[in-house]
Amino acid sequence: MTAVRLAALDAAGLALDALVVGMTSGKRDGKPEIPNTSGLGAGERKRIIEAVAKLGARSTAGKPVKIPGVTGIDAPLIVCVPIGAGLEAITPELLRKAAGAGIMGVDGADKIGVVMPGDAPAEVAATAQGAVLGSYRFESFRGTGTPELARGPKTVTVLTGTHRDRHVREAVRQAEVVANEVLRARDLVNTPPSALHPKELAAAAVEAVSGLDVTTQILDERGLKRGKFGGILAVGQGSANTPRLVRLAYRPTRSKVHVALVGKGITFDSGGLSLKPPTAMETMKSDMGGAAAVIAATAAIARLGLPASVTTYAACAENMPSGTAQRPGDVLTTYGGRTVEVLNTDAEGRLVLADALVRAAEDEPDVIIDVATLTGAQVVALGTRISAVMSNDNELRDDIVHSSAVVGEQFWPMPLPSELRSSLDSPIADIANIGDRMGGMLTAGLFLQDFVSDEIPWAHLDIAGPAFNEGDAHDYTPKGGTGVAVRTLVQVVRDLADSNSL
Ligand code: BES
Ligand code: MN
Ligand code: ZN
Repeated sequence: MTAVRLAALDAAGLALDALVVGMTSGKRDGKPEIPNTSGLGAGERKRIIEAVAKLGARSTAGKPVKIPGVTGIDAPLIVCVPIGAGLEAITPELLRKAAGAGIMGVDGADKIGVVMPGDAPAEVAATAQGAVLGSYRFESFRGTGTPELARGPKTVTVLTGTHRDRHVREAVRQAEVVANEVLRARDLVNTPPSALHPKELAAAAVEAVSGLDVTTQILDERGLKRGKFGGILAVGQGSANTPRLVRLAYRPTRSKVHVALVGKGITFDSGGLSLKPPTAMETMKSDMGGAAAVIAATAAIARLGLPASVTTYAACAENMPSGTAQRPGDVLTTYGGRTVEVLNTDAEGRLVLADALVRAAEDEPDVIIDVATLTGAQVVALGTRISAVMSNDNELRDDIVHSSAVVGEQFWPMPLPSELRSSLDSPIADIANIGDRMGGMLTAGLFLQDFVSDEIPWAHLDIAGPAFNEGDAHDYTPKGGTGVAVRTLVQVVRDLADSNSL
């Protein structure tokens, strides 16, 4: 958790360990400039830009430049980050990225200040959110072999002249809540699979909403058997670590809409008997990224007190090969009675989601949204930074794409072509769990669609690539778990509540 403060540059006792300053590129010459901002005086801006200019020859374009403190700023280190646009072209997302990149590049500073152009609520909030997102470090599994741990700041102080403005303060508080829930989702994804079995993931969901107006329920293996959740049970049956189905229910007194969130919570995906090759398993602790996102988003929504009922399901299981594992060729009966011929035990996400989607519909929500690291085909189609949205309702799909853009996440609309559905036909069961390999992301979506009534708007978010960053850290995104979809889900719920209150 990183706390956010708002202050003016001349605030008493500021005593920062470092200050991150956003730079724009000059209109005429493209040279770095520090735009007029209420967070800095003209004198400080001039002193900083002069120091940067002196380093200019040695600095790498586009990279943050570190300079020693200057007169008028109570910080020994100043990190100047290019925002990557001229003043006219700055967006909240560019501010979020610059603030995050600046803080990501400073270790061991407890109090970091940030100053960016823009005094409006949305701008200051984006800066604050980027700062929190960039403060993330995951060091809890280092041992005696690491003498010094990487350390992000405990507090980030956003410098702005509007630090007393009521709207600015409220927007920043909300951005801070959401950002800290993104950090929670990252922690859950990064935790090794030996430390986060279905049982621990379920406990983490309960912990996430403790003290909030959210009721919790966990079905363990016995409860799942009693309820006939055949999909979750079949996926979990190969593992000594038994599956769980978590239900969280947030019911505010003022509620404009009821949204069900469903997350894939495979704490480790070995592929089961249809075993994955070793390298494909290296990142499969992240296969609960959908569950992490819906849990964290629910906590954020409840913490913000949004006027929307939310019912959240995390379908948790470990997909392992063993003498008790399900076999290719097995037929299972999902919750509600539909049967599935399991031809490939590595297509397990859709099996646990099938149960959870049917269960979610029983709560009679207005909308169902599932989130899953579902297919390698998603990564092939859209890469590692853009997630997919499929839906039985084009308006809902486009609304989600729009909400994601508002918060600086990238979701792209994908179709559910009905002509591919027949490739999922099974000669003996209601449906098979694999279909056409071409368009594999879409056939996975079509499989899920079979478990949702056409009467209810439903969307499926495939975050297989974006959930886990195997590359280098960039902007506010660290290596490893990214917490993707948390911000989008919160915004979607916010937007649905807003549009229903008209
Ligand atoms: N968890 C994987 C999908 C995945 C792949 C997530 C890469 C993140 C990165 C999923 O359970 C899976 O194995 N899907 C198979 C389905 C196939 C057997 C139809 C896939 O995409 O290869
Ligand atoms: Mn799999
Ligand atoms: Zn999986």
